Amino acid sequence: MMRFQDSQTHANLQTAYENELSAAARYRLAATQARQEGQISVSGSFLIMSRHAMTHAALWQKRLLNGTCPNTMQNLRDAAQGEFGQWTWKYTSFAKTARQEGYGELADLFERLAEIACYHNVCLCRLADDLAGERMYHREEDAVWLCLACGYAHTGPAAPSQCPVCAKPKGWFEAMGEGFE
Ligand SMILES: [Fe+2]
Repeated sequence: MMRFQDSQTHANLQTAYENELSAAARYRLAATQARQEGQISVSGSFLIMSRHAMTHAALWQKRLLNGTCPNTMQNLRDAAQGEFGQWTWKYTSFAKTARQEGYGELADLFERLAEIACYHNVCLCRLADDLAGERMYHREEDAVWLCLACGYAHTGPAAPSQCPVCAKPKGWFEAMGEGFE
């Protein structure tokens, strides 16, 4: 019997995964448009279907990865790599083509989005490094740690292991001013 990775079923799983992801994003856009047109019920239906499509995508992803899911560290590294590709060659090359073909405004837009991809890459790498080391929840000097659930602020070199107000664990704390804006 052929390896699962070489089967048509595996290729179909990959297609199904990508289609569900794409549909989830398109339904989010469609929901926004429906809301702008005052079609609130339709907008809500699109949002629900978008969530369903995300669930379907997660099901297919798990099947593709033999029952596992990439952890947050892997997701951060993968996302950083994707943004790096957009910044360093995809959007840069798209801008060049657009300019050659006389679409100056689009070329400018590709270049601006390449700059954002660069910023995203830096942020994602910093998050991955902070998570890999101790910096995500520990500092050399005092910092203000905000509970993202209730707003409690703690000052000290480390985030509390548990929020004294709402009991959320350490992972809910963020050093003030260092969240992704
Ligand atoms: Fe809290």
